[in-house]
Amino acid sequence: MRRAPSIQERRGKRAAWLRQHAAPAALALATLMQQTAAQTPAPAPGVATPTAVPAAVQNPVAVVAMEILREECVACHRPGKVKGGLKLGTEEGLKKGGESGPVLKLGHGQESLLHEVLLKGGDPHMPPKKQLSQQQTDAIKAWIDAGAPWDAAVMEAPPKPRPVTLRKMPKSVESVLTLAFSPDGSQLAVARGGRIEIRDAKQERYPVSLSFEVQPEAIQSLGWTPDGAHLFAGGFRKVSFWSTKDGLSEGVWTTDLVGQVTALALSSTGETLWIADSLASRGGFLHKVAWQQRQLLKTWKAHEDSVYALALSADGRWLATAGADRLARRWDTATDALSATYEGHTNQVLGVAFDSLTPRLATTGADREIKVWDRESREQDAVLGDKKQVVSAICWSKDGSRLIGVTERGNGAVYSAIQKHTGEQRSDTAKVQKLDKVEAFLQSLSATADGSVIAAGATDGRIFVWKAADGKLQPTE
Ligand code: HEC
Repeated sequence: MRRAPSIQERRGKRAAWLRQHAAPAALALATLMQQTAAQTPAPAPGVATPTAVPAAVQNPVAVVAMEILREECVACHRPGKVKGGLKLGTEEGLKKGGESGPVLKLGHGQESLLHEVLLKGGDPHMPPKKQLSQQQTDAIKAWIDAGAPWDAAVMEAPPKPRPVTLRKMPKSVESVLTLAFSPDGSQLAVARGGRIEIRDAKQERYPVSLSFEVQPEAIQSLGWTPDGAHLFAGGFRKVSFWSTKDGLSEGVWTTDLVGQVTALALSSTGETLWIADSLASRGGFLHKVAWQQRQLLKTWKAHEDSVYALALSADGRWLATAGADRLARRWDTATDALSATYEGHTNQVLGVAFDSLTPRLATTGADREIKVWDRESREQDAVLGDKKQVVSAICWSKDGSRLIGVTERGNGAVYSAIQKHTGEQRSDTAKVQKLDKVEAFLQSLSATADGSVIAAGATDGRIFVWKAADGKLQPTE
């Protein structure tokens, strides 16, 4: 058994930790707090208020305590960041306690470490650089007095949005965070900073046919409607909707969004919209919206950290999510139930894509690997990439013929005929067509339905287009 550290040891450890971490963490928090003054956008006219999902009967003592833990503690006491050996995001973790043993004495709030640390002069003092209000510390005490009842629904709910003001981006920040071919491949939408450019993909050099300002902050995600007549653009706490004929706004969706809309997915019928809503280190949430009715159907926490990518299977049955918590997940689109978790990346999962020919999916991670998974068994069929550079984005052509990846060093490759890895030579795993190298940090990717034309966006605002057959770079305007 581990000996509980003495107060002295704890003090020393705490001081060391503060030197290392508290300053940057506090700085980040302070920046967040400074950006005050409410800027929660008003709902656009014509956007219906969603019908509320009926809540189960809740214990108010538990609700308040859960909200305090969720808002003030879990960022540092969660899987992947277990400060003091203590996890506060689950009932199991709470009951287990931390490095110095149990933190709760049920029925005795006053004598519980979890309450002591909140008080002025607490050692360690929690949260490290902040004093909770008397009301909050009393609420935690009352909750422990009442036997610390758990409420998973409140713990898993998105955190309360903090008011922020968005500043206009400096002109230099024109990064292409996302770009997307229209479903028929005739148009290419490019998000450059807060603007959208529609390019004509039927003409040589992909000339810009329309360009319009969407928002001051960077556009994080794009999605076309099946008919190619409208575009969704994801930003901070909002999804805006645009006509691609004239670049006019057709509405804004803001309901219950708490962070950056890092990815969007629309069902092939255009009926259901999934929104990935990310708060770094705090959770990646999914919102499922019945788009025709403008009605929020459900919100849930999909990952413990940001969701970087979404993918729908060709038959619309599955939705996959790529998480900064190193996991990829697959959800049943009919029931919203979690169907599988793909565990194996040793760093953030940046992209995910479904194969339409075989029951497989691919993921790419900041650990410099593309993994191809058996969708059902969750075993790794193949590992692709040179392991030297991060493949920042992947996509699988709709027809299943090609899996494409582009890297932070300007390289790209088209994989076809991907075989199950047999332990023999890696080169046997797939046929590889390299793309002409460019001097750029590639971070976004899209391909036409047959995978024959590939477009990628770079951090410096440039875009590149290749033909998949020979990997040749095409001239662009
Ligand atoms: C900014 C990060 C951060 C936040 C936020 C935070 N903690 Fe901590 N917590 C730590 C660190 C670091 C330690 C280890 C400190 C030490 O051992 O001296 C710790 C230790 C603890 C311990 C002691 C665990 C043990 O067994 O020794 C408790 C209890 C605790 N935290 C509760 C909380 C509660 C309750 C909250 C929210 C009100 C909270 N923490 C918020 C970083 C944080």
